[in-house]
Amino acid sequence: MVKDWILFQPLKIGSMTVKNRIGLAPLLNMPRAADMGPNEATIRWFEARAENEVGLIMTGTFSPLLPLAPGGAERFGELAEALHKHGAKLGIQIGVGGPMGGQGPSLPPYPDKRHPKQGISEYLTGNISPIPLITSVAEFKVEQIEAGMDLFARAAQALKEAGVDCVELHCAHGGATLYCSFISPFYNRREDEYGGNWENRLRFPTQTLRRMREAVGPDYPLLARISANELLGDAGITIEDTVQWIVPAMEAAGVDALDVSQGSILHTPEGITIPLYYPRGCYIEHAAAVKQAAKVPVIGVGRIVELEMAERFLKEGKADLIYLGRQLTSDPATARKYLEGRPEDVNKCIGCLEGCGTPCPINYDILPEAVKLEPAAKSKKVLIVGGGVAGMEAARVAALRGHQVTLIEKGRALGGTVATLALDPPTAEFGNVVEYLGGQLGKLKVDVRLCLEATPEVVKSFEPDAVIVATGASLVVPEEVGGVPGVMDHLQALKARLSIGRRVVVWGLMYGAELAIGLAREGKDVTLLGEGGEDILASHASNMRRWWILRKLVDFSPARAGAEAALVENPKVLYFTRVQAVSPGRVRVVNRHGLERRLAFDTLIISRGRRRNEELIQALEGQVPELHAIGDCSAAANINRAIFSANEVVRAL
Ligand SMILES: Cc1cc2nc3c(=O)[nH]c(=O)nc-3n(C[C@H](O)[C@H](O)[C@H](O)COP(=O)(O)O)c2cc1C
Repeated sequence: MVKDWILFQPLKIGSMTVKNRIGLAPLLNMPRAADMGPNEATIRWFEARAENEVGLIMTGTFSPLLPLAPGGAERFGELAEALHKHGAKLGIQIGVGGPMGGQGPSLPPYPDKRHPKQGISEYLTGNISPIPLITSVAEFKVEQIEAGMDLFARAAQALKEAGVDCVELHCAHGGATLYCSFISPFYNRREDEYGGNWENRLRFPTQTLRRMREAVGPDYPLLARISANELLGDAGITIEDTVQWIVPAMEAAGVDALDVSQGSILHTPEGITIPLYYPRGCYIEHAAAVKQAAKVPVIGVGRIVELEMAERFLKEGKADLIYLGRQLTSDPATARKYLEGRPEDVNKCIGCLEGCGTPCPINYDILPEAVKLEPAAKSKKVLIVGGGVAGMEAARVAALRGHQVTLIEKGRALGGTVATLALDPPTAEFGNVVEYLGGQLGKLKVDVRLCLEATPEVVKSFEPDAVIVATGASLVVPEEVGGVPGVMDHLQALKARLSIGRRVVVWGLMYGAELAIGLAREGKDVTLLGEGGEDILASHASNMRRWWILRKLVDFSPARAGAEAALVENPKVLYFTRVQAVSPGRVRVVNRHGLERRLAFDTLIISRGRRRNEELIQALEGQVPELHAIGDCSAAANINRAIFSANEVVRAL
């Protein structure tokens, strides 16, 4: 029985008993008031998780100034009270930006030995903007350090008095935070008593923790989040350093639990905002190493999606509590669904990094302004045409509202473009949403008709009250290229992967970049080309995901200035390159300097623009009582648009 799992047993953190071992990882992107503090929307957002069996709710970072501002502590108190009604404990993560706080990931070369120019937040000035005013670790004055300790101590005390259950000091993520920047040999080049060796670099965070401890008394739970490995090799914090220096120092300073993360926001964000390209649970060994050395409970985190994995990590002694971050944005009810014996109902995170808080592309309900899902005033006969994720989500929501739903799809399977992209190993996690929606349609007994092409006559034969067209978009293949042997579009290539030859040319720098990497990994000899430059490369993906792709494809060494092809061997990338002619086995290209080349290929894959499939919607205009278009056929976009447009239409039906 799931309820007997270790995951659902209580855990003591200092004097606090958490009802189970599931925590919400700190995520900055929770809804907030204009001053970045909590408001009603924040409370509702966290409550949605607390009421669904999350034992410990840890907030994203708050500035220590907020609890001290007039009315600040009470607002945190209201949040605590709301969560306590559900038996959850509330932790507030407090922290302040480091040299790179508030910035997106930087590009290699890394580790970048240059001392970062930008630095620490001027939090002492009362500036609580999310993009802090900054100076560098070296420039941070001893008086500021002193005042900083005092500020954090008073914040912890105010939060305790407001009824918050515990406080977590954010000492992780390299240049993202003040404290990690001090700990890190990579960011801290001071030569005074706060730099130079481990003892000195740990002085500021551990003295702060001691001050916090003095302020809150011996029994109040204090946690610290650390980057147990900055993923910067020997230049940064290594796991060995953590075990030898950080764990004992933090314990001696009085922490009651260690939350083990990794990475540095600018240089190694793949440890923090882990993209879908990384295996689930890939960093748990960091927590495991800390657990070997620590006396206090250890929290493990990182792309943990299914609770079977969380349970296994606990059983193997790798952690005492598991934080789920993005999984609890895609499905706040994950834990409840397991407890109720229906894990198949969990909407699993796809790791796309396109929001992770507000919004989450696959969870429309996460929006504070989401239209509530309520029974329809009148049950209608709803016909949905197209079984991609937009059509599937529309069918799910319409059925939940009590409509009589039929979904017709011309292909042999559901899932459309997203299911096809999921055939590519780097983006296999996209399959989660298809699996989830497919399961839900089965449970809701939606009438699904596969292999049925929708013509206006077919549509009318169903005598629908409302028709929702979700026919998607098609990749544009230039006329002169279609029909040449060995040429296929991106989606055809994924469906016929085994027929892809050894020498591959991928034409199209956006989605094509992910495909090119996947094919190169399989040992193909790949050239990726397109008319644009690096700014176009993988520009379809969120910054945090794109960063990973760029690091694979682009050489960032200063020597390269002005070069047009990336230095990586495979895939080769040709920018500003137009295709002039394609013949069997040969593509003739020209770059912006007029230089022509002939590239030999076994397979040429086209991954360029997409065209909306709008023929049906046009043909049905005026032919049916109610007509809507959703997803790519209304605007060729992405999963987010597919899911959200389906909800916007169907919740108003
Ligand atoms: C959008 C986003 C915001 C985050 N904000 C914070 C934060 O405020 N503080 C922090 O310590 N970690 C933050 N993290 C890291 C998460 O707490 C967590 O470690 C990470 O998302 C990996 O866990 P997951 O795969 O379960 O999401 C953030 C991650 C994401 C994706």
